[in-house]
Amino acid sequence: MSAARRSWPIGIFDSGLGGLTVAAAIRRRLPSETLVYLGDTARVPYGTRSAHTVIRYARGCARRLASRDVKVLVVACNTVSAVALPMLRVELDVPVLGVVAPGAAAGVAATRRGSRMGVLATAGTVASGAYVRAAAALSSRVEVVQREAPLLVPLAEEGWVEGAVPAQVAARYLEPLASARVGALVLGCTHYPLLRNTITEVGRQVLGPQLAVVDGAEATAEALATLLEDRALAAPEGPGDLDLMVTDRPDRFAEVASRFLGEDVSGLDVALVDL
Ligand code: DGL
Repeated sequence: MSAARRSWPIGIFDSGLGGLTVAAAIRRRLPSETLVYLGDTARVPYGTRSAHTVIRYARGCARRLASRDVKVLVVACNTVSAVALPMLRVELDVPVLGVVAPGAAAGVAATRRGSRMGVLATAGTVASGAYVRAAAALSSRVEVVQREAPLLVPLAEEGWVEGAVPAQVAARYLEPLASARVGALVLGCTHYPLLRNTITEVGRQVLGPQLAVVDGAEATAEALATLLEDRALAAPEGPGDLDLMVTDRPDRFAEVASRFLGEDVSGLDVALVDL
């Protein structure tokens, strides 16, 4: 591995804006790394599409980022991580990190003995069974219960993350799990961390006051730090940059990115790209 490769950027992509919650966690954990973020805003949402279509879209995003000489590819989208990771690992020459395995590991760690691990995710992620497999690979004692929560995605996109409507939507999705003894709830979709306060409040009312709510973003940033260290790919000290690309509506992306990223990026240029 050439020493120069350490200074190369990390590629990261999502179906749209939501993956910026993962980018934010990476920027906090690894401030010297430069990130090139691609949001496929022209084709979001992925979570309602077939695995076949998601794999096709993921291939386009990954190839675009690979053409920028990235040293690692982070798949910030849970749906892509759930269905397309093996294909990306075979087709790309760089290490590929998804969000499902780190999220499941954090969920397993937070699930108390005698309780189950709940997963809120898109229809595609739930149907893939990826969280169930990832948890089973880590522990034979943790049982997983899953729920699709599709309406939480547009609410997050709208910035409608608190108040009666998101609370009712969250309650509707969580109530069927009320008797499932859920001890930890994994937010298995890039958008849900934006609704974390609402999901936590409603979750504790519906599932019990001890409920732990787990966001895979921090665990993914930690897994990335380990990967960079193990492969001698960590960037030299210094501030890392952020490069943003989208496939549609860069103006809207710039407007809402600051909220997802938790830092003011209104001055950054957002490039429009075609896949
Ligand atoms: N990025 C997707 C995920 O994490 C959520 C939005 C979508 O459905 O595309 O599963």
